[in-house]
Amino acid sequence: MIRPALVIIGSALGTKEKKDEVQKIASVLEMVHLASLVHDDILDGAKTRRGIPTLYSVAGPRQAVLAGDYLLSKAMSLVEGEEGDLHASAVANAFGRLCESELDQDAGEGDFLISSSTYIRRIAGKTAALFALSAYSGAAVTGAPKHLQYRLHRIGYLLGIAFQIQDDILDYTGDKKTLGKEIGQDVRIGIPTYPLIAALQEEKRRGGERLYTLVKDKRRPTKKESRQIVSLAIEYGGVERAVSLVNTYIARAMDDIGKLGNSLVESQLISLYEKLSARRN
Ligand code: IPE
Ligand code: MG
Ligand code: MG
Repeated sequence: MIRPALVIIGSALGTKEKKDEVQKIASVLEMVHLASLVHDDILDGAKTRRGIPTLYSVAGPRQAVLAGDYLLSKAMSLVEGEEGDLHASAVANAFGRLCESELDQDAGEGDFLISSSTYIRRIAGKTAALFALSAYSGAAVTGAPKHLQYRLHRIGYLLGIAFQIQDDILDYTGDKKTLGKEIGQDVRIGIPTYPLIAALQEEKRRGGERLYTLVKDKRRPTKKESRQIVSLAIEYGGVERAVSLVNTYIARAMDDIGKLGNSLVESQLISLYEKLSARRN
């Protein structure tokens, strides 16, 4: 419920008279997110999420595609035209960016040698676009001053990037039980994330090639290879470097949060971020 939380927190910057509209857009964003997860679990072949079997694994891919579509249609039917400064097309555009990034990631499956900017571009679409829209929406629906709407959009973007890098770190270091989903899956299904990208850079700097040899021209590494890749990535400090990248995004978000000029919104955003950074699931 991070996305609705962002909507509701941001809404305090505008008029108090739009409670229902704020709740509606908050629900829409959670539904869009949920639909993207139902579909994502098909794409990733994920067996569990939030500690329970995925719809895909219980009902099969065809039913899960339709259920995701159905959720999306319900969400879309709740937004039309404009609500305050928020245009319905903003929701469609953010979801479009999410799909483009999932497509890009899918097209690059098995290619572990991507740059960090390609990775950031992907997670910007996959995760940060919806975070940014969420933070912006509450302020836009309630007609908050434009510069604050844009600032919240940027804060949402920065928090979204930080959140996804953190999510990707947990795939390397997390615990299946607390996380509620399989770990070590990204490498297994051919998806390079920041801990690996940073580790490959570090290995190159040191003149080694063990990790590089394991990941070059591999589409889907075996279970054993995946384990080796993950432990080498950790050995080369990929996780530490990912944590410090998270911190640079958080610092930038904090800087913008401090400029909102509203102590309630500031403290709520900070406590949301604190919950996120402590998360293990
Ligand atoms: C999350 O993507 C789903 C979207 C942002 C569309 P991931 O595949 O990276 O995340 P998890 O690990 O399944 O939650
Ligand atoms: Mg997934
Ligand atoms: Mg995925």
